[in-house]
Amino acid sequence: MSRGLDDDDLDVDLTDPVLASEAELAFEGALRPRSLAEFVGQTRVRGQLQLLLTAATLQQRTPDHILLAGPPGLGKTTLAMIVAHEGGRPLRMSSGPAIQHAGDLAAILSSLVPGEVLFIDEIHRMARSAEEMLYLAMEDFRIDIMVGKGAGATSVPLDLAPFTLVGATTRSGLLPNPLRDRFGFTAHLEFYDEAELEQVLSRAARMLGLAVDGEALAEIAGRCRGTPRIANRLLRRVRDYALVHGRDADVEAVRAALDLYDVDALGLDRLDRAVMQTILTRFGGGPVGLNTLAVSVGEESETIEAVVEPFLVRIGLITRTPRGRVATPAAWRHFGLAERAPEGAATLPIDDL
Ligand SMILES: Nc1ncnc2c1ncn2[C@@H]1O[C@H](COP(=O)(O)OP(=O)(O)O)[C@@H](O)[C@H]1O
Ligand SMILES: [Mg+2]
Repeated sequence: MSRGLDDDDLDVDLTDPVLASEAELAFEGALRPRSLAEFVGQTRVRGQLQLLLTAATLQQRTPDHILLAGPPGLGKTTLAMIVAHEGGRPLRMSSGPAIQHAGDLAAILSSLVPGEVLFIDEIHRMARSAEEMLYLAMEDFRIDIMVGKGAGATSVPLDLAPFTLVGATTRSGLLPNPLRDRFGFTAHLEFYDEAELEQVLSRAARMLGLAVDGEALAEIAGRCRGTPRIANRLLRRVRDYALVHGRDADVEAVRAALDLYDVDALGLDRLDRAVMQTILTRFGGGPVGLNTLAVSVGEESETIEAVVEPFLVRIGLITRTPRGRVATPAAWRHFGLAERAPEGAATLPIDDL
């Protein structure tokens, strides 16, 4: 199976100053649940997928095409692997950025074996011409291949083996409607709650042979941005810390390790904090437009929108308004700042109005 799909530029490692190494990726692979039963949380999505897969098995056909949408690290790649594994189907992995021409896609599609699961990660980044080819392939298991150039060019129809497309995207809003409509099922993955993250962590600790008490697990769970990938990475840092200092991986070790890596009490990392500081101190709490924000912190606006913002919204530090992103009172409190009156607001105390 090909590696490195998790390592594209959107899946930035938010907790680790060093980029994900081979060892990190191998570690991640080893911890991936292999069945729906092992997959923690996302109860709704799991139930929906289970039904879809079981129905397909009963009818002896390939399952409908599936779109998995959500921020990085919530389990999209893992679920794609599970879809293949549960049905005993072979899996082919590719990604949007690797499909820059219709020909790239034609080569993949024409070599699929019957029943194969085709996973296309970051599907919103696929070339337009390939997207159009995919419409027909998804609907009729057929593509038209252009042979020759210029006036003599002809299109030759080619039948494909029936397959299941599993697409993953961090930006479902960027998918053209005709593509979105051709998926039989779209799963929106949500951030995990702390109880679910504790399950992810205790499973990982068990697999690593690491003794971590409940209090320590809870502390990590509360500081991993609702994201299993980050939970597992932090657990590794805690293990390192305990090892180097020759001590137990208890709650003190967790706090010391996470402080060392700049993960604060809410789980905000450096980029989250840079974004919040910008909104609060440079723009007086907002509203700030996405692009302005991206330029101010020196990041791609895509990263801010797909990675940073969903979490900050989810924990109630910012809200999205038509005019831009606005800090909430909780944000001012978290950063220990006095809230500034929004522009044009009354400066008189309410009682005097
Ligand atoms: N529901 C889950 N239960 C247990 N571990 C999970 C779950 N979701 C994700 N993980 C862990 O998080 C890591 C990242 O998941 P991945 O599927 O690569 O996320 P995505 O593709 O959405 O970025 C995996 O290695 C896996 O160990
Ligand atoms: Mg992935």
